[in-house]
Amino acid sequence: MPGEPGRPEREPPVRVLSGIQPTGRFHWGNYFGAIRQYIDLQTAGEAFYFIADLHALTTVREPARLRELVRAAAVDLVALGLDPARATLFVQSDVPEVTELTWLLMTVCPMGLLERCHAYKDKKSRGLPADAGLFTYPVLMAADILAYDATLVPVGEDQVQHIEVCRDLAGAFNHLYGHVFTLPAPRLVAGGAKVPGTDGHKMSKSYDNTIEVFEEPAAQKRKIMRITTDSRPMEQPKDPRGDHLFELFALVAPEAERRRMAELYRRGGFGYGEVKKALVESASAFFAAARARRAELEADPARIEALLADGAERARRQAGAVLERARDACGLTRGATRARRR
Ligand code: ADP
Ligand code: TRP
Repeated sequence: MPGEPGRPEREPPVRVLSGIQPTGRFHWGNYFGAIRQYIDLQTAGEAFYFIADLHALTTVREPARLRELVRAAAVDLVALGLDPARATLFVQSDVPEVTELTWLLMTVCPMGLLERCHAYKDKKSRGLPADAGLFTYPVLMAADILAYDATLVPVGEDQVQHIEVCRDLAGAFNHLYGHVFTLPAPRLVAGGAKVPGTDGHKMSKSYDNTIEVFEEPAAQKRKIMRITTDSRPMEQPKDPRGDHLFELFALVAPEAERRRMAELYRRGGFGYGEVKKALVESASAFFAAARARRAELEADPARIEALLADGAERARRQAGAVLERARDACGLTRGATRARRR
């Protein structure tokens, strides 16, 4: 109702937010399946992107490696086109307000909701030990989203369930305490398209079949030359659709090249080695500008640190305001504590 206290009178402006776990160096699946679309959305409105190191703690247990992966993720994202002048880039753990908010949300979160979440369910069904961090992971993710009043959350298909959890928790809290949180909408990216790995299965670091975006060129070439192919004779015409080597080529080749290659497939009389060589070249050209930007950033480590510090400051300002709203609403602040916290 217009004018009702605590309720926004207009649709909130578009605020894009997404988090990326630094559990390994980015591969083509991450880039073409997620990161590229996230970065494209930086022009849709205000944008917040963060490196989810708290989430990664449930898998990366070596401190030096985690530190390096976080730094590399920041450099990679900027090299790939994330523009810090447009979007706020920060590290999740630099915003402690989010962990406090996680607790508030935990108190309105039914166990059953988390028991149904697939990350935990999958691990449990495989008989693997799961910790409370993995179990409550979707609550931290909900806090990540709600702390910034995000309206649009681009994610891969595997994360849609977590956005639903976030909406449920925000709804439950709002129902109890009045309008505190903005409900986000998921934005499914890539229409479910899966980037194949070097063995033809879905590219994933768990399958050891990845091509990393910023892999050293000679190593990348070796990997590409080893992509599995079938043993049909050279002269036999082949359908490019569903051929993982062609699909990888299509990701990085310019349109005209892609068409030429598709014709070659349909005509037959070519060797897979030829396609692999073309893939090496197209990949190199496709990522050349990003590699150059990456090299520049690597040469100036203070720049990325300053950028993350600035991002954290902006993020904390926003998350602090939302946390205060939530604390007030549920009765955690009294006049005196409020004054002390400001
Ligand atoms: P991995 O499977 O290598 O562990 P992650 O689960 O860390 O990758 O992936 C992060 C995001 O990248 C996912 O949410 C998904 O959106 C995207 N992604 C990962 N692999 C692929 C792929 N092969 N094809 C399309 N998108 C992918
Ligand atoms: N859980 C997400 C993933 O594994 C990463 C993530 C953490 C995230 N917090 C988020 C994504 C908030 C979107 C919004 O990919």
